[in-house]
Amino acid sequence: MSKLWGGRFTKKTDQLVEEYTASISFDQLLAEEDIQGSLAHVQMLGKCGIIPYEDVDKIREGLHAVLGKIRRGEVEFSVADEDIHMNIEKLLIEEIGSVGGKLHTGRSRNDQVATDMHLYLRKRVNEFVDLLNKLQQALIGQAKQHVETILPGYTHLQRAQPILFAHHMMAYVSMFQRDIERLQDSFKRINTLPLGAGALAGTTFPIDREFVAERLGFERIYDNSLDAVSDRDFIVEFLSNASMIMMHLSRLCEELVLWSSNEFDFVELDDAFCTGSSIMPQKKNPDVAELVRGKTGRVYGHLVGLLTLLKSLPLAYNKDMQEDKEGMFDTVNTLQGALQLFAPMIETMTVNKDQMRQAVNEDFSNATDIADYLVNKGLPFRQAHEVIGKTVLYCIQNKKFLLDLELEEFKQFSNLFEKDIYDTLQPEQVVNARNVYGGTASNQVLEAINRAEAATQET
Ligand code: ARG
Repeated sequence: MSKLWGGRFTKKTDQLVEEYTASISFDQLLAEEDIQGSLAHVQMLGKCGIIPYEDVDKIREGLHAVLGKIRRGEVEFSVADEDIHMNIEKLLIEEIGSVGGKLHTGRSRNDQVATDMHLYLRKRVNEFVDLLNKLQQALIGQAKQHVETILPGYTHLQRAQPILFAHHMMAYVSMFQRDIERLQDSFKRINTLPLGAGALAGTTFPIDREFVAERLGFERIYDNSLDAVSDRDFIVEFLSNASMIMMHLSRLCEELVLWSSNEFDFVELDDAFCTGSSIMPQKKNPDVAELVRGKTGRVYGHLVGLLTLLKSLPLAYNKDMQEDKEGMFDTVNTLQGALQLFAPMIETMTVNKDQMRQAVNEDFSNATDIADYLVNKGLPFRQAHEVIGKTVLYCIQNKKFLLDLELEEFKQFSNLFEKDIYDTLQPEQVVNARNVYGGTASNQVLEAINRAEAATQET
């Protein structure tokens, strides 16, 4: 059979052109969505009296047969038929004869491909919300086991103030919660139907777009036919949301890589989530965390790629837009891979409480608290800061930590110091003193865990 659009042409397509312009090698991933859209479209054609019901039935049966063959891997797609849309139409005509040619009435590949992409992303977005939820559960699980585990909190990667490990885990739960909310918000734009826009201007047939929208579960239809076929904002938005998720994951990856180094030794990733070295027998490398961190780059690349593709592109459909797919598919794969591995990797991670505690005992992360102590005794904060700065310097010069100082030594710096300074300096006290909403005090963290559990059950 010749090309579906062959009528106007007198020459065969150049072989290289055929290969260069074809998208079937990658858009075959849209086969299910393409058939789903066609089933609704043809039903509408029947309902609106555009084609007879007996033809509708034949076409629907034919589409189901083609779908079955595709699922069973019995179909060989052809580059000559360019893309998934024409491959399926060809297969349909092979299946049921020329009546199959009625399917494309009142429709263009331009509104068809846009519809397929909306259907595809709609499904993926729900899957990603589920995967993010699972990751949140894993983080919450670790948080619950470590509401008493204290580690140094860092700024500038320098020890700053002690925090609960649970608090650190819950920070990521909040970040992923924003990601979930962004995906959910994007859903209403993804869940808008372009079909019925035709090639760009609408169609002469008395179609019913609302009917198709309802059948396919779309909440809304595009208001403007030109916009419907030109819009790829929803894919940009998805790539942007995916980039944000990868960015969040990469920050956690970086911490896992640092924390599992000998220098920190704060966590140990399960053997099942690490790999070894071909030469150094002692090595256990956090490859998954490194690779997720690395793959963040390709997702950003796809986002910038699509934005650049769309920049200055005139309305309506342009063949350039075929380039919207591979980056999207690759992003879906990359994100799926990362999220699927991450939840179990976090769940099985061992937290080295003693090592974290040791780190806190051997640092000055309680220094802010003695400044606050002096403030509570009436000294202005700026002066207290100066006094404690000097105290810390004295400790460094004498190879001591604050808790090692005698009361007399403290008194050299301020006579406001009393015996109760030793309670103030205990890491538990330092942590629990930060008893503000969102702070690291254990009762605040327990409440944060409760709130997160309630929220994740809702999503
Ligand atoms: N394969 C094309 C794409 O993915 C489908 C739409 C083609 N439309 C057209 N008028 N050539 O963008």
